[in-house]
Amino acid sequence: MMLRRTDSESNHFEHLTLMQHLQELEAALAGLVCYAEVYANLGSAEKICRCGKELRETVPSHFAHEEQAVLDAVALLGPQWAAFAREMKGQHLQLQGKLDSFCGAIERLQTSEDLENAICQLKQRGEEFADQMLSHMVAEERKLSTITVNA
Ligand SMILES: [Fe+2]
Ligand SMILES: [Fe+2]
Repeated sequence: MMLRRTDSESNHFEHLTLMQHLQELEAALAGLVCYAEVYANLGSAEKICRCGKELRETVPSHFAHEEQAVLDAVALLGPQWAAFAREMKGQHLQLQGKLDSFCGAIERLQTSEDLENAICQLKQRGEEFADQMLSHMVAEERKLSTITVNA
């Protein structure tokens, strides 16, 4: 199966949308202060929770589309591409784990009695996920932009 232009374009579009959401998330995370007067931050915390819930819906389906329509196709181009596809799939598993722990921190924020600690956890896990997810997509965009795709 060859990489089709429509799949390559829709994958690129999914990256742009996800990047926008991650930048929103990063801005909200930057506005979250980890100690004292946490109640002043609840606006940021709510924004982070909204972003997190949305990412929980969109990221796994992006990974699934990408693996089937893009990575499995480019893996056939040669050993170097096969290694790239394997590496990206491995990163998907790690990123899914980071997203799950970020979402776990969102859930604990709603029930925790130690709000300050719950906010710190939320900030830390959110930043970890956002950083790694952005670098992952930048690496994919860089590598995939070197292919000329068929119509
Ligand atoms: Fe990916
Ligand atoms: Fe991707």
